[in-house]
Amino acid sequence: MGLVPQGPHLTDELFRKMTEYLFQETGITISSAKKYLVEYRLQKFVGPDKHFASYEKLFHALKHDKSGELKTIFINSLTTNYTFFFREPVHFRFLAYYLQTYGKNQSYIRLWSAACSSGEEAYSMAITCLEQGFSPPGRDLKILASDISKKVLSTATAGVYHYSAIRGELEDAYLRRYFRFNPQNKNFTVNDNVRFLLTFREFNLMDPFPFTKQFDVIFLRNVLIYFSIPEKEQILAKMWEVLKTPGYLVLGLSESLVGVRNRFTTLSNSIYRKDG
Ligand SMILES: C[S@@+](CC[C@H](N)C(=O)[O-])C[C@H]1O[C@@H](n2cnc3c(N)ncnc32)[C@H](O)[C@@H]1O
Repeated sequence: MGLVPQGPHLTDELFRKMTEYLFQETGITISSAKKYLVEYRLQKFVGPDKHFASYEKLFHALKHDKSGELKTIFINSLTTNYTFFFREPVHFRFLAYYLQTYGKNQSYIRLWSAACSSGEEAYSMAITCLEQGFSPPGRDLKILASDISKKVLSTATAGVYHYSAIRGELEDAYLRRYFRFNPQNKNFTVNDNVRFLLTFREFNLMDPFPFTKQFDVIFLRNVLIYFSIPEKEQILAKMWEVLKTPGYLVLGLSESLVGVRNRFTTLSNSIYRKDG
């Protein structure tokens, strides 16, 4: 069937209103080229036998949603949460290099997976730390994992992944060392020594950053794509403030800061350093 939506039609005008609403709530912009995607993602709620008879009714309910429940569903439906363990492995090799080269001299280490989705990125960071011999109590090390979406955060916090979802993403040795397998339901659950390193928090990157300790390395991967240039610049300025000097900001491999004003020194197309 592909992505061609069946049933009620989302007009350009309503698409504009919905994406404006999303922007106000999250800072995420969706270009008109992605209208089909919005329609596709929302069509499970809209239609003769669905919760809302039309996109107009859905939007009306959204604007009058006092509980915030529909807003959460709407945001969760329109943000893409695609991720997997050790996605873009070069960044985990960089983290290992950082820990060995600079990490040893730090009185504390703070890492941040700033759009952690369902947790795979943050757990991969934690496993990298453990593999490099970095763990409490020998080290004051903590990893913050945050995302705007409640739904993905609940998966991240649970740390339970079905074997079919993570097949091939993790080496067998890591699965044995850092997960428990339940043969009945075929779920892998993250071990406590990995989870212990992590704090999960719902957090919108558009909000002020409330942190007291500075970060060594921040993974901000595959999320800037949702923001317009002024928002990207605001987020990068805030990232600059919360990083140590030197500190490192890691974007997705396919992302770039070309045309986006920032103060970082470019180390590669995806790794940026805060210098003094
Ligand atoms: C494609 S996933 C990236 C996951 C992971 N960083 C990776 O690269 O595999 C993008 C994530 O960004 C989150 N996100 C979108 N807008 C956000 C915002 N304003 N603040 C925080 N997280 C946001 C989405 O909920 C989604 O989980």
